[in-house]
Amino acid sequence: MPLKTAARGRISPFIVMEVMRAAAEREKSGADVLHMEVGQPGTGAPRGVIDAARAALCDHRLGYTVALGLPELRQAIARHYRDYYGVMVPAERVVVTTGSSGAFMLSFLSAFDPEDRVALAAPGYPCYRNILSALGIEPVSLMSTVEDRFQPTPALLDRARADAPIHGLIIASPSNPAGTMLDTAAFRILIDYCRRHDIRLISDEIYHGITYRGRADTAAAFSDDAIVINSFSKYFSMTGWRLGWMLVPADLMRAVESLAQNFFISPPTLSQIAAVAAFECHDELRANVARYAANREMLLRELPKAGFSELAPSDGAFYLYADVGHLTNDSEAFCRRILDEAGVAVTPGVDFDAARGNRFVRFSFAESTEDMEKAATALKAWRDG
Ligand SMILES: Cc1ncc(COP(=O)(O)O)c(C=O)c1O
Repeated sequence: MPLKTAARGRISPFIVMEVMRAAAEREKSGADVLHMEVGQPGTGAPRGVIDAARAALCDHRLGYTVALGLPELRQAIARHYRDYYGVMVPAERVVVTTGSSGAFMLSFLSAFDPEDRVALAAPGYPCYRNILSALGIEPVSLMSTVEDRFQPTPALLDRARADAPIHGLIIASPSNPAGTMLDTAAFRILIDYCRRHDIRLISDEIYHGITYRGRADTAAAFSDDAIVINSFSKYFSMTGWRLGWMLVPADLMRAVESLAQNFFISPPTLSQIAAVAAFECHDELRANVARYAANREMLLRELPKAGFSELAPSDGAFYLYADVGHLTNDSEAFCRRILDEAGVAVTPGVDFDAARGNRFVRFSFAESTEDMEKAATALKAWRDG
């Protein structure tokens, strides 16, 4: 008899990783690929972080840290809230995690029980849905539209609550895949909605710092009950260092600490020591954001010439989410053709919205401006061809 395999492990793959694999195979066969699929900065960690890591490699024993993270780093993160947002956050509420991905595990496990229902916008980052499912928590998709800026609204939440209670809401502003943001009024309305209906808000703020029309609001400015999640992976350009953080409400602190001790022991020590220096590297990091802004401007001008004219308003992050319903009703096959025939790797919308993603694709513009210009030219040539 075959050995048992668990039903909860049977979650959807993260399709963008599969696109990355197809792109890597094409590159191995000697063909070029222009990368618009990868949701990570085209740059490495800032200089100050690398210097700090080099010194730590020589001088430090690099054992475990305490589970909640290095005290110096927790303090540096708390100072970041004061300096960047003007919000006072006690360092005791800051928990350092293994990427924001580690923070999702700790949040979902501490705040929700199996069979609880957690609402989230579709389209949205696929791992929220897939991690919730693996934990036996029900993801409830809010079918947001471009008119809602692909963000949750009270009306969508009312509809979801009409079926059964909702215990949590995940928001991301700027969002992945659309890059759209909640303005302050809309953010406050959602915070208030959650308060009135006993819904735990989880605010994924991983794209903060990469915005094109003013700064994003942090949920920490409006609520001490919200779980705030952030990461060194995007603005700080430290994707592979696997480091993130969360601001934890007082009532969840003990549970998060016990879970972190048991699941992870501690986040990576070398990364934690080096990340303290990241908050001194804003000049270099702002130059990265200026490059994203230039790429975005160029693509907003050039993609419509290649037939990709239905673009969600991209307020932040490094994505453009395009409605390609006039070109295909199978975005996976469409992306495969773009890779094979134009040599450009693009992510199909089905990764982000199982129901409607077949008519959307996501362009990431995190690589160099030169590569993004080549990609725009290749897409136009392909469409003209
Ligand atoms: C919206 C969003 N949240 C979280 C993550 C995970 O990031 P990490 O675990 O590297 O912090 C990503 C990665 O692309 C993302 O797009």
